Amino acid sequence: MSDIKMQEAVESARSLFYEKALVQFEGEWVGAIAAILQTSDAGTPASAPDLNYGEIFIRDNVPVMTYLLTQGKYSAVRHFLETCLRLQSNQPQTQGIFPTSFVEVDGQLIADYGQRSIGRVVSVDATLWWVILVHAYVQKSGDRAFAEQPHVQAGLQRFLDLILHPSFREAPTLHVPDGAFMIDRPLEVWGAPLEIQVLLYGALLSAAGLMQMAIGLPNFQHLGDRLQQTIDHAKRLHGYLQKYYWITSQTIQVMRRYPTEQYGEAIENEYNIQTETIPDWLQSWLGDRGGYLIGNMRTGKPDFRFFTLGNCLGAMFDVLSCDQQSELFRLIVWNQKDLAAQMPLRICHPPIDGADWQIKTGYDRKNLPGCYHNGGHWPCLTWFLAAAVLRQSASDSANHSAFTEINLLLESSYQIMRDQLPRKNWAEYFDGSTAGWVGQQARLYQTWTIVGFLLMHHLLKVNPADAGILNVPRLQDFC
Ligand code: GLC
Repeated sequence: MSDIKMQEAVESARSLFYEKALVQFEGEWVGAIAAILQTSDAGTPASAPDLNYGEIFIRDNVPVMTYLLTQGKYSAVRHFLETCLRLQSNQPQTQGIFPTSFVEVDGQLIADYGQRSIGRVVSVDATLWWVILVHAYVQKSGDRAFAEQPHVQAGLQRFLDLILHPSFREAPTLHVPDGAFMIDRPLEVWGAPLEIQVLLYGALLSAAGLMQMAIGLPNFQHLGDRLQQTIDHAKRLHGYLQKYYWITSQTIQVMRRYPTEQYGEAIENEYNIQTETIPDWLQSWLGDRGGYLIGNMRTGKPDFRFFTLGNCLGAMFDVLSCDQQSELFRLIVWNQKDLAAQMPLRICHPPIDGADWQIKTGYDRKNLPGCYHNGGHWPCLTWFLAAAVLRQSASDSANHSAFTEINLLLESSYQIMRDQLPRKNWAEYFDGSTAGWVGQQARLYQTWTIVGFLLMHHLLKVNPADAGILNVPRLQDFC
């Protein structure tokens, strides 16, 4: 019975993906639209063109390209990467950034760098993801020649120019405005949000790996200093995230005794954090053996919310040590009632409400407590957790029992997705503390929900060895 359900769900997802979500440009697949537009029985669109969900978002294409890599469809991935590179901004103020999304209109590509987006938010993650995807593509396909092309190396240099320039801040983190990543609306995620920092870490190491491939070739020797600068930055960022973002019950107890108003170099409380900022829910949430990377660190204002994607990427890119990854998985199992509920996985926990919601979201009705980005549940996130767990359990095979519970959670997440998503029309996200409701404003037939399920299926049932597909070079390999 469950085998039949599995076949049906996989078949349905595959045909939606290949026949309706992927689009062509210049005779080759170039990526997938964010959501498949619903048509009425007469074949006409059921509603007016759906905002920008008919565009190709770089971030939504991360699972798409990852899945295509697992299927050996390398030329489509290469075409996507080349097309994004063509759209890398060369405007003086934004030089080097990649667009949030693009669309073809009458043979022309039109890109959105934020100048057309709701609320005019900018996306920073797209730029970081491009570098990581180039590295993943080269690793998986073996097409080193792609990375060795002068225009690809030039694109990388434009990216590095954005990161490695002088600034007013000493910290190695990348400072961004609100809504600069998957959470693309105000949710008090400005400053140094976790997702951006771990992506930056992955992108710096990927850029270093890609530069190293070219450095032995004529015309590229001058990259030596840049390579060193990139590695140094990644190293500082790693130390910084370990110091300020990683928390356990023990680190919180140290923090609770912090002195304040300290000045100078050798001090404990550099960001002048008042202990009242440590929220009550943290005690039971952390348990005594769990740990995670907090959402943000800013002067006097740490954000203790748990952000699922940032933490999964922190594990996948080895910002976290093996032991820390085990602590993270333990924390996720411990809090599965909140995080997985009836539809995995919650994007962040806990939701903000009351006056906090009013002020921090600007009364955003799409982000009501427990909805959408503010604690909604997004099935597109589960494969990141699966990849993080499976790559870690493969490298720590002697310690099999440590992964039993998290593997059970992955299996039950898979089953929920298999049984629910086709019936719920592959909804974008789910609302409420139990995640029992399809999101109030959720799109249906959302591509990363569909392809997220295909990736879960691939990693859990077909080829777990692909869990390392987004591996970035290890910092130790450069030191
Ligand atoms: C929403 C999401 C964003 C996603 C876009 C397209 O705006 O918040 O993360 O990229 O939809 O699916």
